[in-house]
Amino acid sequence: MIKMGLIGIGRMGSYHLNLYDEIPSLRLTALSDANEQILQEKAKQFNVFSSSNFEDILDKVDAVTIAAPTKFHFEIARKCLEAKKHVLVEKPITTNFEEAVELFNIAEKNNLVLHIGHVERFNGAVQELKKIVNNPYLIESRRVGPYVERMKDDSIVLDLMIHDIDIILNVMNREVIDVEAKGSKVYSNLPDFASVTLVFDNNAIANILVSRVTQKKDRTMSISQEDAFIHLDYTSQDINIYRKGLSQHIFGNKELTYKNEYILERLFVYKDNALKLEIKHFIDCIEGRKPRIVSVNHELRSLKVALEVDRILKSKVGRCEVIS
Ligand SMILES: NC(=O)c1ccc[n+]([C@@H]2O[C@H](COP(=O)([O-])OP(=O)(O)OC[C@H]3O[C@@H](n4cnc5c(N)ncnc54)[C@H](O)[C@@H]3O)[C@@H](O)[C@H]2O)c1
Repeated sequence: MIKMGLIGIGRMGSYHLNLYDEIPSLRLTALSDANEQILQEKAKQFNVFSSSNFEDILDKVDAVTIAAPTKFHFEIARKCLEAKKHVLVEKPITTNFEEAVELFNIAEKNNLVLHIGHVERFNGAVQELKKIVNNPYLIESRRVGPYVERMKDDSIVLDLMIHDIDIILNVMNREVIDVEAKGSKVYSNLPDFASVTLVFDNNAIANILVSRVTQKKDRTMSISQEDAFIHLDYTSQDINIYRKGLSQHIFGNKELTYKNEYILERLFVYKDNALKLEIKHFIDCIEGRKPRIVSVNHELRSLKVALEVDRILKSKVGRCEVIS
C-alpha cells in the first residue's frame, strides 16, 4: 500500500483527491495547501494529517502529487525527491528545461518514480492511436474553447497546447526540424489563440490550433496516413477511421457534382476516467508492476518543443482588436 500525500488542493488537486478511493494500493495519508481554509476543510473531510507547509507532510508519505501552481513545481518537487518520495507533478513540470532535467536526474539517482500529469495520454481514444497510426504525414489538431478570466495569466502553450504537442510527438516519434508559431492577444496580455506548425525530419507536418477565445469547445485531432484518415474526438473519446477514399466529379447536364466515398470504421474505445488511469499508472510504476508509458527522454522532448513554441509566440505577439 502506497501512502500518498497531495500538495495543492485547488481545481486540479481536488480531482485527484476525489479519485484516491478508487485506486487499489493507494491510501491518502496527508494533505498540504497554502490556503488554511481549504486545507482544514479537506483534512476534516478526509480525516488525514495536514499542514500548510508541504515539508511537514513528507514523513507521513511514500509518494506525493503536486498540484500547486506551476511556478512552485520545481522547488516543491526537488525537496520531495530529495526526501526520497515518488512524485507525480501536474503538467507542465516546470517552465524551464534545465530545471526539469535536474528533477529527473535527482529521481534517477534516488531510484524514484517521477511522472508528469499529462492526463490526455490516458484518454481512451489516445490509447487506441498506438494500434492504428502508421507513418502519418499530416496531423491537424484543434483545442479551442471559451474565455475563462482566471486563466488570463497562463500561457496557452504550457496550459493547453502542451497536451497536443505531447501526443503528436509520441505518435510521430520523429525529430522536429522546424517550428512556426503565430498567435494574437484578444482579451488578455498573452496570446489567446495560436496556430503552430511543426515540421518533422521526414517532412511530415502537424498543424496545431489552440484558442481560449472560441465560443464552442472543440478538442479533436485528425491524422492523414497512406491507408487511412483518422479522426479523434478527445471529449467524447471517439475515433472514426476512413479508408479506401475515392472522390470524383460527376458532370451532369446542367450541374457539376462531387462525390466522395469511403469505408467508415467506428472504433470501439474503452472509456474510463483518464485521471484515474494516470494515478493508477503512477502507483503501478512505484510498485514495479509496469514500466512508465513515456520515457524520460520523451517527457523532456515534449517540454522542450512546448517551451520553444511558447518563446516564438511571445516574441512576436500582437493584439487583435475586437469591437465590443
Ligand atoms: N493536467 C491537466 O489537464 C491540468 C488541468 C488544470 C491544471 N493543471 C495544472 O495543475 C496545477 C494547479 O492548477 P489549478 O488550476 O488546480 O490551480 P489552483 O490555483 O486551482 O490550485 C492551486 C492550489 O495550490 C495551493 N498552493 C499554492 N502554493 C502552494 C504551496 N506552496 N504548497 C501547497 N499548496 C499551494 C493554492 O492554495 C491552491 O489551492 C498547475 O500546474 C496546472 O498547470 C493541469
